[in-house]
Amino acid sequence: MTSTRTRTRISKAVIPAAGLGTRFLPATKATPKEMLPVVDKPAIQYVVEEAVAAQLSDVLMVTGRNKRPLEDHFDRNYELEEALSRKGDDSRLARVRESSDLATMHYVRQGDPRGLGHAVLCAEPHVGDQPFAVLLGDDLIDPRDPLLPRMIDVQEQYGGSVVALMEVDPSSIHLYGSAAIVPTAHSDVVRVTDLVEKPKAAHAPSNYAVIGRYVLDPGVFEVLKKTQPGQGGEIQLTDALRELAHQETVAGPVHGVVFTGRRYDTGDRGDYLRAIVRLACEREDLGPDFRAWLRSYVDEEMQE
Ligand code: G1P
Repeated sequence: MTSTRTRTRISKAVIPAAGLGTRFLPATKATPKEMLPVVDKPAIQYVVEEAVAAQLSDVLMVTGRNKRPLEDHFDRNYELEEALSRKGDDSRLARVRESSDLATMHYVRQGDPRGLGHAVLCAEPHVGDQPFAVLLGDDLIDPRDPLLPRMIDVQEQYGGSVVALMEVDPSSIHLYGSAAIVPTAHSDVVRVTDLVEKPKAAHAPSNYAVIGRYVLDPGVFEVLKKTQPGQGGEIQLTDALRELAHQETVAGPVHGVVFTGRRYDTGDRGDYLRAIVRLACEREDLGPDFRAWLRSYVDEEMQE
């Protein structure tokens, strides 16, 4: 498959966003979890910005019921723009327009949320037969440590599919897909020989966890169509990639890019709070005051 396809630079990103966000209830009862602010921007906007920075300006969001605010956020809001413009508030006006000017947005609904693999399969009609990227919204990658461009380069060099891997503590490998790997000539690139979704630490092939960035060969769609529900009764992307890693003649090999940069997890409440504190500290506008407050707050806490 890979050899007969004409190569063009990867331009499409798929962002699964149909999850219910139950870990954040009641905040997510009527608001998509992707819209929760990280400092002052919804989490999903960081992810779309990352895709655009990697030259992926065609973004397909896989949404579901109650996800309308996502579409509204990436669309114009003329009333608000008009009001800000009347007040001469140019900086806020620019902030409002930023999200609607970012990318060419497309949406498809995953009627029945049957897992990440199923969400990716919903992208098939839009993606067609070119390699594409998948970005999961719970992982934010610091723009100073670009990961996707490296993954795209590796995909172009080796063909097949590429996952992002990060070494994690053995005690948390059960939260991730875990990869069996062998080295390649490049220190940051490994060959993936097996993948297990959310294994117990004792059964994990390694401490290399799949983090939420993928560059996939479109051959993954055929495999996903045959993938049976796995962990949690859901159709797992990890299981389809495992199949590809085992039978690389179908759609090329699976490689991993080992990421050592800054990643912020917004998937559960504790990590979400840590992400906000870290990013707020680093902001030029808010950081200096916020850090000073944080320091005195921690000092007080220590005295108690
Ligand atoms: C998904 C994938 C898992 C991966 C993780 C990264 O799990 O199924 O393999 O390690 O994302 O964040 P989720 O966290 O959506 O349950």
